Amino acid sequence: RLEKIWLGFGCVMLAVFLLIIGVSAFASGNQPPSDATLIDPTQVDQTKPFDKPGLKKIDDNKYEAVMVSQAFQFTPQDMVIKKGATVDFLVTSKDVVHGFEIVKTNVNMMVVPGHINSLEYTFEKAGDYLIVCNEYCGTAHHMMSTKIKVV
Ligand code: CUA
Repeated sequence: RLEKIWLGFGCVMLAVFLLIIGVSAFASGNQPPSDATLIDPTQVDQTKPFDKPGLKKIDDNKYEAVMVSQAFQFTPQDMVIKKGATVDFLVTSKDVVHGFEIVKTNVNMMVVPGHINSLEYTFEKAGDYLIVCNEYCGTAHHMMSTKIKVV
């Protein structure tokens, strides 16, 4: 009898799975190009919020870092935040795929042109944090970095 229950459970899961795939395929097929996570890589400078990249203080413990990756640099270059603050990173690329790794942390994401890549990180310790590109993006790939100073 246990087998029957499991078989039934399996069938239900399969049905749920197919439904999710179907719904998401339908949804993505109908998404307009102005979807919140999509961006025209040739129009980055004209697209909010990337028309004004930089660090924005939301409140004492919250910042938003709007960043642009382009071979071979990140904009903005240097940021300073308060210890214990959470930073919401919004990153896009103007050209190729770049990496976004904050050294000494578990933050590591790909920056894909055409997309707004985001993640949040709370800086519990003071110090200098290096942000590096860890996807090969050309001859000066190893030079591509920026910094966050946590004070
Ligand atoms: Cu950008 Cu490697």
